[in-house]
Amino acid sequence: MMVKHSAMVGECCSTGTPQQLCSHRVAGDSLSTQQCCPSSRGPGVASGLCCWHFLILTAWLASWGRFATSLFWLKQYRRMPGGDMAKPLLGHRSTEGDPSVVPAAGRTIGVLGSGDFARSLAIRLVCSGFKVVVGSRNPKRKACLFPSAAEVTFQAEAVKKTDVIFVAVFREHYSTLCDLADVLAGKILVDVSNNTEINHHKESNAEYLASLFPACTVVKGFNVVSAWTLQSGARDGNKQVLICSNSQEAKRTVAEIAQIMGFTPVDMGCMSSACEIENIPLRLLPAWKIPILLALGLFLCFFTYNLVRQVIHPYIREQKNKFYKIPVEVVNTTLPCVAYVMLSLVYLPGVLAACSQLYYGTKYRRFPDWLDQWLQHRKQIGLLSFFCAALHAVYSLCLPMRRSHRYQLIETAVKQAMEKKMNIWVEEEVWRMEIYISVGIIALGLLSLLAITSLPSIANSLNWREFSFIQSTLGFIALVTSTLHTLTYGWSRAFDENQYKFYLPPTYTLTLLVPCTVILAKVAFSLPCIQHRLQRIRRGWEKGREGTL
Ligand SMILES: Cc1cc2nc3c(=O)[nH]c(=O)nc-3n(C[C@H](O)[C@H](O)[C@H](O)COP(=O)(O)OP(=O)(O)OC[C@H]3O[C@@H](n4cnc5c(N)ncnc54)[C@H](O)[C@@H]3O)c2cc1C
Ligand SMILES: NC(=O)c1ccc[n+]([C@@H]2O[C@H](COP(=O)([O-])OP(=O)(O)OC[C@H]3O[C@@H](n4cnc5c(N)ncnc54)[C@H](OP(=O)(O)O)[C@@H]3O)[C@@H](O)[C@H]2O)c1
Ligand code: HEM
Repeated sequence: MMVKHSAMVGECCSTGTPQQLCSHRVAGDSLSTQQCCPSSRGPGVASGLCCWHFLILTAWLASWGRFATSLFWLKQYRRMPGGDMAKPLLGHRSTEGDPSVVPAAGRTIGVLGSGDFARSLAIRLVCSGFKVVVGSRNPKRKACLFPSAAEVTFQAEAVKKTDVIFVAVFREHYSTLCDLADVLAGKILVDVSNNTEINHHKESNAEYLASLFPACTVVKGFNVVSAWTLQSGARDGNKQVLICSNSQEAKRTVAEIAQIMGFTPVDMGCMSSACEIENIPLRLLPAWKIPILLALGLFLCFFTYNLVRQVIHPYIREQKNKFYKIPVEVVNTTLPCVAYVMLSLVYLPGVLAACSQLYYGTKYRRFPDWLDQWLQHRKQIGLLSFFCAALHAVYSLCLPMRRSHRYQLIETAVKQAMEKKMNIWVEEEVWRMEIYISVGIIALGLLSLLAITSLPSIANSLNWREFSFIQSTLGFIALVTSTLHTLTYGWSRAFDENQYKFYLPPTYTLTLLVPCTVILAKVAFSLPCIQHRLQRIRRGWEKGREGTL
């Protein structure tokens, strides 16, 4: 069972029922990977930049950049009155004839604060057809930073003119808004704030805001959207806006505003979800942590093993300096081993899951947590395997380019000339290499196909059967072809005692263990008697409850 990107946030991918997070979802498809600390991003910074790049940039730009960038965006906005930004990205939904729905577009929206987020929000709201009133402590100074269509006034004045107010102010300054408590009473406050650390405070920012203004209805939302995304709208960046509140009515109002602005509102339930929503932009690739550690661990083990065999052994036994091999040859023996073992680790949990289902005779028994986690990380493990395999291919193609290789060729040629050896053609070696290179290329081609289909846009264009065929069947064929590549590369080396350095067998023999186990197990599962039982179990049949199917 695998998970496509098309699984909507807030839905269980396998049942389709609304849920906040379902265990079947492949981690890494989550929003957290799309948004990398938006609170720290300013407008004009490409959303593809990762956090640390941006932090360095921010330090440099901090003194004057904010002012300059806002002026830049303002100019852009003013330059295109009928341009892209002037058009709401989603058509306004007709609310005629539905008395329960207040028409959102055209209504006045308040924004407290005049910083990066407030400015981008105001521009987007104006472009989406809303009237905007901005509340600032210093309206005169800040008015020039906003589009002329937005009214910039004192905080109390702004709040009086609207029922929906975005609080684009940091949590630390919420208490300075307490003077406005009376004018804010009965209104909807949208908390857009982020923290700087995960679970920084005991209560979420939204809950804190609600505690300061008990007469208001607080909605958490828009914090996963950066100022940059607000500028670029649905064309770029994260389109989803996660919303939660204890009031259904307020949530509906904010969701409608988000939709008119071109975003996709996602209902995350009541206010207790605010903490989770606030943590989302702070997570740095959470689904990748274990796979990356696994890849690094494997790399370190294989690298050390290869270093001992290829460099330390000749140095100690023959006093030969082979340290030049470290950057290319040792790395190119290590990378394919990591790629190959990781690829087998993608298909091993499916085998273990099937064994568990066969053993217990049911699919309704929960897998142990470690297996569940493993199943959910297969996509990341697979993509890292592809990454290592691609690097291995590039390294392999560069092997003959190296100067050391040319010296060795010349040396061999001279030796052979001196020994008067004319025919150096070894038919078996020629065939071995032709085959293992060709099979390696096919394996890499198949892995590329898997990697391409894991892109959300491609995955969404495939139906479930197509996606499953590519990921499960073609992926398994990629494992088989990688095994053929490794076996043909190894050929008879495993039986050559010169290959055993310090009694250590050639590296490829070690890598074969897990992939061959997976292949044999998959072959065993395809035997009619086992396959039939497995299929019945996966369709709901249970041991001891005959007749359920
Ligand atoms: C380059 C590359 C890219 C990849 N991209 C993706 C990707 O985008 N998305 C993705 O999902 N995988 C991806 N993978 C991982 C892999 O291709 C898939 O997970 C694939 O479906 C595994 O196939 P399988 O036959 O082993 O297992 P499956 O056919 O998925 O599962 C075998 C059986 O195990 C059981 N099972 C599996 N998972 C669960 C579960 N969570 N709960 C209960 N039962 C379960 C089911 O009974 C199922 O029938 C990628 C791999 C690579 C190499
Ligand atoms: N920037 C982003 O990409 C982004 C993304 C998601 C969420 N957010 C959230 O949006 C909020 C605003 O972020 P920002 O980047 O726009 O910050 P900012 O540029 O520093 O703006 C904060 C604004 O708060 C107002 N403010 C009100 N009371 C204040 C006080 N006592 N002291 C200081 N400022 C006060 C100020 O406006 P006046 O001087 O006009 O009153 C100031 O311009 C934060 O909660 C942040 O977490 C930002
Ligand atoms: C374009 C595709 C590929 C090419 C050109 C290629 C080429 C090579 C070459 C030249 C070697 C010998 C390296 C050496 O002399 O040390 C090799 C070994 C190996 N390759 Fe590939 N390969 C490709 C794809 C793959 C893929 C997709 C995998 C598996 C995921 C893989 C796994 C291995 C393994 C395990 C070894 C043995 C490493 C060792 O123990 O020395 N290769 N490959």
